[in-house]
Amino acid sequence: NMGEENSGNVRKDLANLFEQSLRVTVPNEANVEPLVAACTGKFGDYQCNNAMGLWQKIKGASDFKAPRAVGEALKNNLPHSDMVRSLEVAGPGFVNVVLSESWIAKTIQKMLTNGIQTWAPRISVAKVVVDFSSPNIAKEMHVGHLRSTIIGDTLARMFEFSNVEVLRRNHVGDWGTQFGMLIEFLFEMFPNWEDAKETAIADLQKFYKDSKKRFDEDPAFKERAQKAVVRLQGGEATYRKAWAQICDISRKEFDGVYQRLGIRLEEKGESFYNPYIPDVLEKLSNLGLVEESQGARVIRVEGFEIPLIVVKSDGGFNYASTDLTALWYRLNEERAEWIIYVTDVGQSQHFEMFFKAARRAGWLPADSNTYPRVSHVGFGLVLGEDGKRFRTRNTEVVRLVDLLDEAKSRSKATLIQREKDKEWSKEELDQIAEAIGYGAVKYADLKNNRLTNYTFNFDQMLNDKGNTAVYLLYAHARICSIIRKSGVDIEELKKTGEIHLDHPSERALGVHLLRFAETVEEACANLLPNVLCDYLYNLSENFGKFYESCQVVGSNEQTSRLLLCESTAVVMRQCFHLLGIVPVYKI
Ligand code: ARG
Repeated sequence: NMGEENSGNVRKDLANLFEQSLRVTVPNEANVEPLVAACTGKFGDYQCNNAMGLWQKIKGASDFKAPRAVGEALKNNLPHSDMVRSLEVAGPGFVNVVLSESWIAKTIQKMLTNGIQTWAPRISVAKVVVDFSSPNIAKEMHVGHLRSTIIGDTLARMFEFSNVEVLRRNHVGDWGTQFGMLIEFLFEMFPNWEDAKETAIADLQKFYKDSKKRFDEDPAFKERAQKAVVRLQGGEATYRKAWAQICDISRKEFDGVYQRLGIRLEEKGESFYNPYIPDVLEKLSNLGLVEESQGARVIRVEGFEIPLIVVKSDGGFNYASTDLTALWYRLNEERAEWIIYVTDVGQSQHFEMFFKAARRAGWLPADSNTYPRVSHVGFGLVLGEDGKRFRTRNTEVVRLVDLLDEAKSRSKATLIQREKDKEWSKEELDQIAEAIGYGAVKYADLKNNRLTNYTFNFDQMLNDKGNTAVYLLYAHARICSIIRKSGVDIEELKKTGEIHLDHPSERALGVHLLRFAETVEEACANLLPNVLCDYLYNLSENFGKFYESCQVVGSNEQTSRLLLCESTAVVMRQCFHLLGIVPVYKI
């Protein structure tokens, strides 16, 4: 009897039961992994699919006459559990599991009393690095960086919820040859640059463009710029100071975006790793990995025609040498077990190559699923209405602040129009408009499988119907209002009331609530936030069906149903939190 030994993850707990059954059913087959999946429909809540595969292996060598008999045995050998109401073998041997209603109710109630934290996934790593956002100094922070910021933050939140220590790393591009040109241009344009107030460069992107133009057009400037790089890298004080000032201007701009989106990041830019590069390259050389090729120093990796360049022919380091060094640092100094990089899929090759180089060096195990491990979380493009790369009308690129401003002002306008008779303070209105506007931008991004391109469309993402943040935020606020209007003290009710799942729609809602833990765990394991979005949307749909067919306030089942409302609201809020969306309690 499993009794109270539940992890919160129903699928896993059932898999454990089937594992015990497998050991009895096929004692000669070692380590058969139990295949248990959630299912929807009239057959059951979960299904074990081991019978057919096992049959293929053991037929002839066992007493079983057909795959269905294997299924029957798996069913009969399953240890008794409070979780299970009934079991049934279907078709060629599927074992369908129907969960016990009283167990579902009890489990939800326990979560209400002890908190949603008790449903946090249990993940077997202690520390992960999420390397995300990572814009480049003086260059534009574009929608690609916005995607990385949104996806990376969600992944970090999911791991944090799972009690994993997360190092949220902003790997900003703050080093490299472009700084020679930027510094010389700073000296030229702002002779009093050392007084930071004098150098209030309003538009760093324009500054970058202008300096690039100067670099391309004037050979004397170009030469000075090239010398400036050497002096900066040599650590000359004036050059370091100018560099720091330029970085600071960019940093302020980036921070503005992070602040609005409620995103916490710790900057460890490329410059941080620079001093460690020579040592790391020496380690790699000592292993015999580094070769000479056309004046450059390279590492050959399997499956690629071209080698990975780690020292350019001019002796300088590059993106790859920095990433190899950062990886070394994260593994050895920071002792991270899983290092996750969030960038567009366009960078896949870079990641694949330096991951392979690290494997050759023995820094990572040969099996890419064994810890310590690395993952490149790639994502597709953001497209405009025209199906091309997203741009605004006049400007070349989309300024992120403008985008967020527009999301907010649009949702504010809709709110004012829709809720004419509400009396909101200016602060309240701003707060809700931000929650909805920024939430809409984030959700529109996260709900797609990250590898697909998606079309940026304000009208769509701010629609209050369909799978949007607006719809979900409204749904949550409505649940809160049901509870509020009942006049019942919900905290009291949690202590004394009981949940019953008699109506089919109550049961369906209950089962879906229970799937929260396994969903977050799956989203973490596969690094796919859209899995959580699907869950949240389905939760809201399940709630809708329940509310349509079951009267809550004033019914005989009021207590149980209010507790179901509260459970739904709690789980929805946790989903919002994990997606970086601020919940609204009252709209
Ligand atoms: N700065 C890079 C870019 O804008 C992204 C850096 C991603 N992180 C990394 N460790 N390579 O494309």
